[in-house]
Amino acid sequence: TGTDPGWADEVRALARERDAVLLAHNYQLPEIQDVADHVGDSLALSRIAAESHASTIVFCGVHFMAETAKILSPDKTVLIPDARAGCSLADSITADQLREWKAEHPGAVVVSYVNTTAAVKAETDICCTSSNAVEVVDSIPRDREVLFLPDQFLGAHVRRTLERENMHVWAGECHVHAGINGKQLTERAAAHPGADLFVHPECGCATSALYLAGTGAVPAEQVRILSTGGMVDAARATGATEVLVATEVGMLHQLRLAAPEIAFRAVNENASCPYMKMITAEALLRSVREGTDEVHVAPDLAARGRAAVQRMIEIGQ
Ligand code: 13P
Ligand code: SF4
Repeated sequence: TGTDPGWADEVRALARERDAVLLAHNYQLPEIQDVADHVGDSLALSRIAAESHASTIVFCGVHFMAETAKILSPDKTVLIPDARAGCSLADSITADQLREWKAEHPGAVVVSYVNTTAAVKAETDICCTSSNAVEVVDSIPRDREVLFLPDQFLGAHVRRTLERENMHVWAGECHVHAGINGKQLTERAAAHPGADLFVHPECGCATSALYLAGTGAVPAEQVRILSTGGMVDAARATGATEVLVATEVGMLHQLRLAAPEIAFRAVNENASCPYMKMITAEALLRSVREGTDEVHVAPDLAARGRAAVQRMIEIGQ
């Protein structure tokens, strides 16, 4: 296991033998983050995967992230330590549903969050992540209709930020982030006056966070809507001594490493993504030892989704 002496050395040595780079999302278990070559948010990891010279990418994250790496680099071997690591948000829209939605809005530009299947990406014009969603939608001429999917809370955040009426938002959600609600955030903020609020835009409480800022219940400069990578940058820059964090709890590890002097507290300690946590120390060791689980994307789907993913990694550099 991750606590066995020698586990990290063995994982690294086996990865070197395979010419593999180890990538870990900010929601991974601490031991997985610590052994990885790079830890980051979904946009940063997509860029690193695309630029890496390693012939194999071991993606410690969820399936759509590994698929995205494969779409960008079809000639590389992409491994995910447990292929069952899915995503409830990616499951909230199918390619058939998207085709029907497009038929109702001919000429609309389709913007898909990267948390989607390869089949949905194949029907997409531009992908985005939480760190560049606003820039991606803003890059579309204002007279064009936009279909944004699948996350309703991220969509509402983009719509509000850009004051864009001709943007339709799919009603999907991530069960982990939707479960971090406004009541919990409001109570926590009242109990910790002076704390910064770092809120991921997929959260059910994102609107409440802006309400707290708007009413002055929490000073507006202390309320930040951020991607997971944005949270690490903001932690380094804030002068706060306490930060309330509304996102998946794996995030706390990188925040504490980035700013050990700050007290970081989860708004909801139970907000743990079961899919992210399927990437265990044992699964990672097996992956680098045996080359499991290899990720394949049908070449026709990959070809159709590639331009949308490439535009995503180019916007917001
Ligand atoms: P980011 O790392 O892009 O903020 O994404 C969060 C997420 O939920 C990924 O599953
Ligand atoms: Fe998907 Fe939510 Fe888990 Fe992220 S936290 S991988 S959006 S289920």
